[in-house]
Amino acid sequence: MNLREYIRDVLDFKPGITFFDITPLLADPNAFRYAIDALAERYQDCGANKIVAAEARGFLFGAPLAYKMNIGFIPVRKPGKLPYKTAEVTYELEYGTDSLQMHVDAVKPGDNVLIIDDLLATGGTTNGMIQLVRNAGGSVAGIGFLIELGFLDGHSKLEGIPHEYLLKL
Ligand code: PRP
Repeated sequence: MNLREYIRDVLDFKPGITFFDITPLLADPNAFRYAIDALAERYQDCGANKIVAAEARGFLFGAPLAYKMNIGFIPVRKPGKLPYKTAEVTYELEYGTDSLQMHVDAVKPGDNVLIIDDLLATGGTTNGMIQLVRNAGGSVAGIGFLIELGFLDGHSKLEGIPHEYLLKL
């Protein structure tokens, strides 16, 4: 299946910025199932016992993949959303910084974590998740994306951890 057909290019979403809209893929049961099944096939032997994914679009792929792989799902959220004690990481944006939080007891020492997101752009979000996992004593079994943007060097922020994607744009 050519997943590219299910990504809508929204030109000038912000001036000069194209938004790669995944909602057509989500709305198509065959394409959505294909994407989740393809990720599950790639990661079935990676040894992960948990998936970590960031809101909001990361949840759309991380949660069904965790269900399919029969492993736990850990939500990473923007500040102030998680109800219990949190660990936080702050990372650089082009202009300014952003923060992500995870519950302090979500990843335990020795956990082997698969990080999933819909998109690798600058890599800031994924790098934040890598830090959260490692700071909690976990290791990263792999990193998977629906889409990697090839014209940005997001992979340079992945600390040398192998990553996979279903579509490169
Ligand atoms: C998007 C996307 C990734 C991240 C990728 O999320 O879902 O998580 O940006 O960009 P990066 O590699 O430059 O960090 P966004 O922060 O827009 O939030 P959303 O999922 O809630 O829309």
